[in-house]
Amino acid sequence: EKGGYDHFMLKEIHEQPKAMADTLTGRCFPDKIVLDDVNLDAETMKSINRIQIVACGTAYHAGMVGKYLIEKFARVAVETEPASEYRYKDPLVDAHTLLIVISQSGETADTLAAIRLAKEKGARVLAITNVVGSSIAREADDVLYTNAGPEIAVASTKAYVTQVGCMILLALHFGLLNGQVDEGTMKRVTNGLKDTSALIEKALGDHDKIREYAYEHFKVDDMYFIGRGLDYYTCLEGSLKAKEISYIHSDAYAAGELKHGPIALVDVGTVVIAVCTQGNVFDKMLNAIKEVKARGANVMAIAKEGHEEIIPEVDQVFFIPQMDDEITPIPTVVYLQLLAYYLSVARGCDVDKPKNLAKSVTVE
Ligand code: F6R
Repeated sequence: EKGGYDHFMLKEIHEQPKAMADTLTGRCFPDKIVLDDVNLDAETMKSINRIQIVACGTAYHAGMVGKYLIEKFARVAVETEPASEYRYKDPLVDAHTLLIVISQSGETADTLAAIRLAKEKGARVLAITNVVGSSIAREADDVLYTNAGPEIAVASTKAYVTQVGCMILLALHFGLLNGQVDEGTMKRVTNGLKDTSALIEKALGDHDKIREYAYEHFKVDDMYFIGRGLDYYTCLEGSLKAKEISYIHSDAYAAGELKHGPIALVDVGTVVIAVCTQGNVFDKMLNAIKEVKARGANVMAIAKEGHEEIIPEVDQVFFIPQMDDEITPIPTVVYLQLLAYYLSVARGCDVDKPKNLAKSVTVE
């Protein structure tokens, strides 16, 4: 049932090109986004003055990407919070709020509690979930299914990638509804989305080189992931994946924060994973890399083709093809999933069933 793969996680990582295609099919057009069970129209959007995105763990990271993109394409302010925080803080939520929840399983207790709280206060709730008929799908007003297929491994991979795909669709949809996204942007981004399966496939093609890197570094005690903009959220996700299944301590930092404290931790041999795909901050990332290298760090980077000047600055670099900056979180995270996977295998961990973790957290 693992289809020839050693672990469900690896199988699911390789299922991502198809999962992404299934997420986009019938929904993504150059001039419109069609979402069957999302019934928000321009009128309803006008009545909404607050969008909140609430989720847990990996799904929360997809929510951060969502915040960034909804603010960019729809020009509406969005707040994000872990569901476990939201539910206990008397949040500012009323009939003019749209709460977006994200949950692979559709059964996470904190996320479900957040929905109930928001609905009690009159908010409208939109759920992004992978499981048809789950509690979260049933209790939400609008549902956007990720269509990733069953995810068995505890570490979420294809669910995350498809959640990010859904967030791009939703951000464009909202942008169209409130007239903030222009024709050119729609064409550009929907065109980019069409390539995502092939982009994931290309990233998967680098698995040997990532395995090699993992087998060279699996004995480290600490790892740091740095990035800016959308890359920062990918770093948070890569760091969570690494600690979850390889038990290596790791942290993710917005690279501009390094000099405000974390750089004190960087020493000879410290592994730093630098995600540098965002064009507007590439030079800033290069500076951050120079600073950690000067302290002896070993740096693995992910950058876009065309930024070859990074080669002499790092120990290992993976290039993703030219694409819009909004699309890069999809292929980029694949590298970090594979890195976590091979670190876990190299350390002899139980990849699919990490200690202390359950696939679905249905109790607090
Ligand atoms: C990490 C992981 C968890 C889940 C979290 C939310 O790989 O799988 O962090 O993302 O428990 O679960 P769902 O999405 O089912 O609500």
